[in-house]
Amino acid sequence: MSGRIIVCLTCDRYGSPRAGEPTPGRRLAVALLANAHQPGHQVTVRTVECLNGCPHPCTAALRTPGKCVIRFSGLTPDDAPALIETAARYATSADGDIPAEAMPASLRDKISLRIGPINAG
Ligand code: FES
Repeated sequence: MSGRIIVCLTCDRYGSPRAGEPTPGRRLAVALLANAHQPGHQVTVRTVECLNGCPHPCTAALRTPGKCVIRFSGLTPDDAPALIETAARYATSADGDIPAEAMPASLRDKISLRIGPINAG
């Protein structure tokens, strides 16, 4: 199933990366891309400059029109497989409102924002 993850490349905004080294956010994006085509999943990774989770890098989000927005913070490259799995589940969900209990255990404490879908009206 296809899905999409949005990941911040700027994280860690308050850190001091060495010249020429990728930011932690870029390392997360690379790990996500490396895991994006697990069997049964086709997940697109889109990069942005900020997801307003700056104090708790690294940050990524699931966001699709008509569905919940779910943002995760405090991520590392080790979280990439769990994020891919969750993105695939999000893609098959009608409203994207995946309860924490239905996510891989490693992500449950990393949900930093959840906004319900906006209904037309
Ligand atoms: S710099 Fe990554 S969320 Fe703001």
